[in-house]
Amino acid sequence: MGSYKFVDHSYDVVVVGAGGSGLRAALGCAQAGLKTACVSKVFPTRSHTVAAQGGISASLGNMSQDDWRWHMYDTVKGSDWLGDQDAIEYLCRNAPAAVYELEHWGVPFSRTDEGRIYQRAFGGMTKNYGEGPIQRTCAAADRTGHAILHTLYGQSLRNSVEFFIEYFALDLIMDGDTCRGVTAWKLDDGTLHRFSAKLVILATGGYGRAYFSCTSAHTCTGDGNAMVLRAGLPLQDMEFVQFHPTGIYGAGCLITEGARGEGGYLTNSEGERFMERYAPSAKDLASRDVVSRAMTVEIREGRGVGPNKDHIHLHLDHLDPKILHERLPGISESAKIFAGVDVTKEPIPVLPTVHYNMGGIPTNYHGEVLTKVNGDADTVVPGLMAVGEAACVSVHGANRLGSNSLTDLVVFGRAAGLRAAEIVDRAAKPPEPKDAWTDSHLARFDRFRYASGAEPTAALRLDMQKAMQEDVAVFRTDDALQSGVQRVAQVIERARNIGVSDRGLVWNTDLMETLEFDNLIGQAAVTANSAANRQESRGAHAREDFKDRDDKTWMKHTLAWYDQTTGKVKLDDRPVHTYTMTDDIDYIAPKARVY
Ligand code: FUM
Repeated sequence: MGSYKFVDHSYDVVVVGAGGSGLRAALGCAQAGLKTACVSKVFPTRSHTVAAQGGISASLGNMSQDDWRWHMYDTVKGSDWLGDQDAIEYLCRNAPAAVYELEHWGVPFSRTDEGRIYQRAFGGMTKNYGEGPIQRTCAAADRTGHAILHTLYGQSLRNSVEFFIEYFALDLIMDGDTCRGVTAWKLDDGTLHRFSAKLVILATGGYGRAYFSCTSAHTCTGDGNAMVLRAGLPLQDMEFVQFHPTGIYGAGCLITEGARGEGGYLTNSEGERFMERYAPSAKDLASRDVVSRAMTVEIREGRGVGPNKDHIHLHLDHLDPKILHERLPGISESAKIFAGVDVTKEPIPVLPTVHYNMGGIPTNYHGEVLTKVNGDADTVVPGLMAVGEAACVSVHGANRLGSNSLTDLVVFGRAAGLRAAEIVDRAAKPPEPKDAWTDSHLARFDRFRYASGAEPTAALRLDMQKAMQEDVAVFRTDDALQSGVQRVAQVIERARNIGVSDRGLVWNTDLMETLEFDNLIGQAAVTANSAANRQESRGAHAREDFKDRDDKTWMKHTLAWYDQTTGKVKLDDRPVHTYTMTDDIDYIAPKARVY
């Protein structure tokens, strides 16, 4: 074993991750006077939030009358009744305040002629409880995430959040059932760091890279989710993986749903606007699960486009080039670069591509992490919170509506800051780090650093990604899911013989990718097992052998634990919150009522 010495730090709060939710949470904690660190494996403005395109939902009512209750109705329905309704109420009630806050901090939203924040149509967003489409998605052209991320980073610096950039988080420091901090590896000089904290907030994003084709950045390896599994805590609803209908064919890059919101439409090889058959009312703006399945059926039945009839066309060529230039400049550029297509003249080749993880670390709507103890599935884990895509609040349930993710980031990032201000004892001393709490972190790190087996990380990762892509896909059957479970288990077995060639500590990307692979494989295992277990179709989980939603048996969250040593997954469940918080007005952030 190498000899390691930690550099020790102590904070009131340590946020892991510097995307939209991490920055919003860190900012809130710092504003509340808490000594706050933000640890990130990438430079903050390179976090994956930067790739969010179409916008952020909030019932501002700038384009026509709107109401947070309509937004809530759409979100509960979109979640296919798996979302926790108290959390959904919190999201939708607080969304307008969160957007105005971003505007006041400097987010350069697109504007209407009257100077209001521009809002576009997105799938599943309706007026008056499902009557017809509404424009609810606030946009900064098609670079909304970019605008929000840069603004939040500036505000975080202004409020003295202390950044630890290009530090790769290793594990949660657990003292029994209480979280006391986190350890990290500083990538540019190889030092190891131990952050003691009264509260850790995980904001580490999704794990899209468990799949072969996804819109997620290469950094989206669910590091926080994996740390939670290693701490012996469960993940929730991991079977629900969202496929975005319009990833660029071959490249996987996102073409925003906002393209269809601005009037774009899909066609098959017969030039037919097939969504009219599948969703006669919402058509191309039906929710993502519906559109992705329709596209898959068209391809399967031989009506795909291209020489291999294996993708679909997205048309924007009928739209005014001025609108494309003003509202969709980013995807016009992506289509040119990644598909060689001029969107003013030709359709874009697209294919459903993994985009978002509805599942993650179970939390309540304050961001506090939950586990199940003695039958109580709402037991709070002291010292630990999670926000953003890493968390499963659960506001998205079985299927997230487009543009509800950026809202989730800022509303629950803000909620975590408010909760931290209430529960962190400013006068108390941060916990003294003990080696016994971190020995296992070093043992894992060292095991991979000196791994000398015959299986290269890249080969194992590819086999995991192929298994997930082929067997835990848009449409699922027992045969395919059992095959997925077996193939992932085989990769876990082979990984016992993994080999890393670089033994150094400075910029060792071989070791970092191996640690990331180890993070991904546990999540792949819980995803495949959770999916094989759920014998119904709901939201993004479409079983061909169980075609109907079965509320009697399955209206419940899945909880999944992963045993690192054996590779085995244990499953249990947690009730869905079918009650709202309307009567509990004290829980609504006071500022939400000011605007
Ligand atoms: O299509 C999009 O712009 C993606 C938005 C989202 O996932 O919320």
